[in-house]
Parts: sequence; structure tokens; C-alpha cells
Amino acid sequence: MIRKGILLAGGTGSRLWPITLGTSKQLLPIYDKPMVYHPLSVLMLAGIRDIAIITTPEDQPQFQRLLEDGGQWGLRFTWIVQDRPEGLAQAYLLTRDFLAGAPSAMVLGDNIFFGHGLPEILARADALETGGTVFGYHVADPERYGVAAFDGDGRVTAIIEKPVVPPSSFAITGLYFLDGRAPDLAAAIRPSARGELEIVDLLEHYRAEGSLQVERMGRGFAWLDTGTPGSLLDAGNFVRTLQDRQGMLVGSPDEIAFRKGWIDRTGLAERAKAFGKSSYGAHLEAILRE
Ligand code: DAU
Repeated sequence: MIRKGILLAGGTGSRLWPITLGTSKQLLPIYDKPMVYHPLSVLMLAGIRDIAIITTPEDQPQFQRLLEDGGQWGLRFTWIVQDRPEGLAQAYLLTRDFLAGAPSAMVLGDNIFFGHGLPEILARADALETGGTVFGYHVADPERYGVAAFDGDGRVTAIIEKPVVPPSSFAITGLYFLDGRAPDLAAAIRPSARGELEIVDLLEHYRAEGSLQVERMGRGFAWLDTGTPGSLLDAGNFVRTLQDRQGMLVGSPDEIAFRKGWIDRTGLAERAKAFGKSSYGAHLEAILRE
């Protein structure tokens, strides 16, 4: 079965600032484009075109205004509401009908990935029909994430959510490739002490049965965080530095759709026009002139 995508876009109520800005963090710009373009681009690079987008009820209209129905990128979006943020694993309960037994790739709306070879590791994860794949990334502050514990042979023995004493420096990123059983397995999870259906509890099922691949993303990759004002600014500067130096876009659904042949020149030209005189629009114009 063809793998489907889940974009857990979230909503207002970010921990980024002490007050809410009245808009979802994922709609804020990372330099020249909205944050949510980045995780969407990852699903597209994995070849996924059928995508459920989960938001809060309040924020859905804003996300819809930005992302429309996906047709502009040759994608198909199914809009799903999560009434309360009751955990990442809840996404699989909400998408049961949408998935209809298909394997999935879920990405969190605030996760930014960049790296040489990204399409290849995504293709490897996609090729696994049963079990799951998650991605470990070495970070300086593992206690802020789900963290993998390894035994002496390098096998993963546990994934622990925000451990006070991290068992390793490998955070598990917000990108989860799971097989078609995920909704059933998520239904068996009970809420944690903080009242959430934890993604790590779902992953534990796969790990315990020996079907969870933990792919390490090496130093050639950037997995960027946007959880603090400083890291948000850093992410913007990172994207700006790369784009200015290379003259190429990072995290553009428009460019990916065009290069994959999901939209034609006319489609891309319409998008470029829609972005008017912005630098993002100028980049799309440049791609058309190539
Ligand atoms: O970014 C990777 C990390 O994401 C993982 O390492 C952790 O294992 C995983 O739990 C998650 O940790 P966070 O602390 O970043 O999770 P947070 O609660 O901030 O939620 C991540 C995004 O998902 C955020 O943009 C809001 C959205 N969200 C979250 C929950 C709990 C939802 O849309 N619905 C939810 O129920």
C-alpha cells in the first residue's frame, strides 16, 4: 500500500513566548517562508502526496488559507481537527479512517530537516512495509526531547521522553514512519502522568517486538529546533545563509512539486506570481528560467 502522510501542525499556545501571539508558531516565518513548509517538504521528498493535516479547531482556517487543498503542489490534503493537545500518538486515532490500513509518515509541524542524502534515507524508511523507522540525532540538550538508550551492541533498549538524566545524546526527531497497525496500537495506549498519549509508548511497542529501526542522522544533517526565540532566529539565519550562498531554496514545496513533476511550468508560474515581488517569488521565477 502507498504510504500516506500526517502533518501534525498543532496550533496557538506555543511555549515559544510567554504570551501567545494569536497565531500558530508553525505559521511564523523561518526567514522567507512559513515554518510549516519545512515539514511538509520532508513528506514530499519522501514521495508522499496524500496528506492529513491536523490542527487545533481555532487555527485550522489560518492553516487552510496558507496551504489550501494541496492541489497547487499536486498534493491532496485532508483536514482534521484535534480538539485538545492530548498527545502525539493521538494523531493515529484521528487519522484511522484517512489511513485506512496504509503505512504512514508523520512529521511535527515545527521540525526542520536539512541534509545531503535526505531523500535517500527517507526512501529507505518508506521501503519498509512492516515495522517502523525513527531518526536519532546527536544534540547538546537531549533532556528536551525523546531520547534513545542503547545497549553495548548499539541496539536501542528504550526511548524515554524528556529524561532528567539522558541515557545518550541521541534525540528522536519528530518524524515517524510506522506501518498500517499504528492506529490499532495507539488505541491500546493509556494517557501518561502528564495526560498525553505519548509517541514514545507507541514506539515502545515496535521496539519491543524488534521492528523499530533507529536511523542515525549524522553530522551532515541539520535538525533544527524552533522551541526558543534564539533557536527560531538561528533557524532563520541557517536557511538564509544556505539560500544566499547557493542561490537555491531550502524547504520549498513549490520547488519540490515542480522538480518531481507534480506540477508543470504553468503551475509553478502561477505560484511565483502569487508570491509577487517577494524574494521567495523571485527564487521561483529563477527556477522557471533555468
Ligand atoms: O521535536 C521532536 C520531539 O517532539 C520528540 O523528540 C519528542 O519525543 C516528542 O514528544 C516531541 O516533543 P515536544 O516537547 O517538542 O512536543 P510538543 O508537545 O511541543 O509537541 C510538538 C508539536 O506537536 C508542537 O508543535 C505542537 C504539536 N502537538 C503536540 C501535542 C502534544 C499537537 O499538535 N498535538 C498534541 O497533542
